[in-house]
Amino acid sequence: MDLEKQKKTPLLTAMKEYVSSQPIPFDVPGHKMGRIHTELMDLIGEDVFKYDINAPIGIDVLYKNVGVIKESSDLLADAFNADQALFLINGTTSGIMTMIMSLVNAKEKIILPRNVHKSVINALIVSGAIPIFVEPIYDEYLGIANGVLVSEYVKAMDENKDAKAIFVINPTYFGVASSLRAIVKEAHRRNMIVMCDEAHGAHFHFHEKLPVSAMDAGADISCLSLHKTLGSLTQSSVLLTKGKRVDFKKIIKVYTMFGSTSPSHILLASLDASRKLMALEGRNILQRTLDLAKYAREKINLIPGIHCLNASYCKNDNNKEFSFDETRIVITVRELGKSGFEIMRLLKEKYNIQMELAETYLILAILAIGSLKEDVDKLINALSEISKLYYVEKKNPTRRNFHFDYADIACRPREAYNATSKVVKIKDAVGEISTESIMIYPPGIPLVIPGEIISKNIVKIYRFYMECKGTIMQDSKIGYVKVIDRNNWNKGEGNDEI
Ligand SMILES: Cc1ncc(COP(=O)(O)O)c(C=O)c1O
Repeated sequence: MDLEKQKKTPLLTAMKEYVSSQPIPFDVPGHKMGRIHTELMDLIGEDVFKYDINAPIGIDVLYKNVGVIKESSDLLADAFNADQALFLINGTTSGIMTMIMSLVNAKEKIILPRNVHKSVINALIVSGAIPIFVEPIYDEYLGIANGVLVSEYVKAMDENKDAKAIFVINPTYFGVASSLRAIVKEAHRRNMIVMCDEAHGAHFHFHEKLPVSAMDAGADISCLSLHKTLGSLTQSSVLLTKGKRVDFKKIIKVYTMFGSTSPSHILLASLDASRKLMALEGRNILQRTLDLAKYAREKINLIPGIHCLNASYCKNDNNKEFSFDETRIVITVRELGKSGFEIMRLLKEKYNIQMELAETYLILAILAIGSLKEDVDKLINALSEISKLYYVEKKNPTRRNFHFDYADIACRPREAYNATSKVVKIKDAVGEISTESIMIYPPGIPLVIPGEIISKNIVKIYRFYMECKGTIMQDSKIGYVKVIDRNNWNKGEGNDEI
């Protein structure tokens, strides 16, 4: 990486010059660089409107970039050890759609973990690809799915030699990363493309104590949410590629198809600024974050009834193949006799502390480059108070009334999505084939996807989340599900043939 070049911010600088030249705007957006007053302006300031421009002369065009956006993306690719970078303004969600749509055609196979984000399932519906699911290691004590063993990927690759690509989550929401280098080696030996979801791993490349990044591990393509851990603005992500296994021209074609023709330049400039910061100071900043995480973990682990995961979590028998991102503060609260959902609500209502998410037995705090020690101290104090309130030694810990498992598959997601359907009550849905995804949000990992057979256990899990008042995302009303109307289903109808 050329550090001298990394000091530049071509797009951000061009925007600064453009706005300071005070152009007379006859282009969109309609607020004309903030010439009309709105309530939002009082809140966030006039400058945001001034810089909210839309590809004027001199600023380059995102989807046909040859000027400053090209320069900025090349710098980003260099900083992240990639060959090419595409800026995304609709999050990693749009990058995942682009990556799958451009590289796996209808009826081609893709090997992927079942605990993928909903964008992956949506990409399967749109592309018509055949999913070959591999099972992640499920931790019943914590109630979370972790990484996938190399042997599990190898088995799937050997049983599906015609698979076009494999998909790896690097890392999961809870910071667990599969053994990516070994997985890449096995996939490349079989001439399969390796795609990664690095929504939660954008920072990995910048510190050697973090799990390996997709590009450093030799993966072919990856999408990274810089907005989640690297300080760019919400929705700004990047798609990176390396090597010749992926057809970059095809990727650009799909990228252009999905992207707005009016991309927010504020989001794009935030990627430019974030890249510069990480290229020049990333390691030091992340060292601070890791030190803060260590401090948080040590203090929280002194609180009765509350525990944090640490690196040793990925040394135990079940997870020893995996590595752990120590900036993730996964806090188990089950010994308090309360659910993670209750503790998360209490932290917000009583202490004004906003956690990232809750699950039955845990809450998750994400420490990132902007995290402050005083905020961590407030969390530690709040958890100490909560522990005093609820922790009673040997009290029954929180326990769910189900074991987690995924449903069996009846047909491709696209086939189910396009099938004639009917809506039934969830309690009457056992044995039916779902035509919709049902997600608990966050983390947005589907409990059921189109084409899966709804089991008794799935209904039990669904009702559990309903009772916990978790946010359930689905097409149908809560308590109902859209399933294939088997009496009127002509298998292969709709767009299924392609
Ligand atoms: C594992 C995973 N993949 C992909 C995404 C989508 O990322 P984005 O929010 O940048 O669209 C998320 C979002 O939370 C995620 O958790």
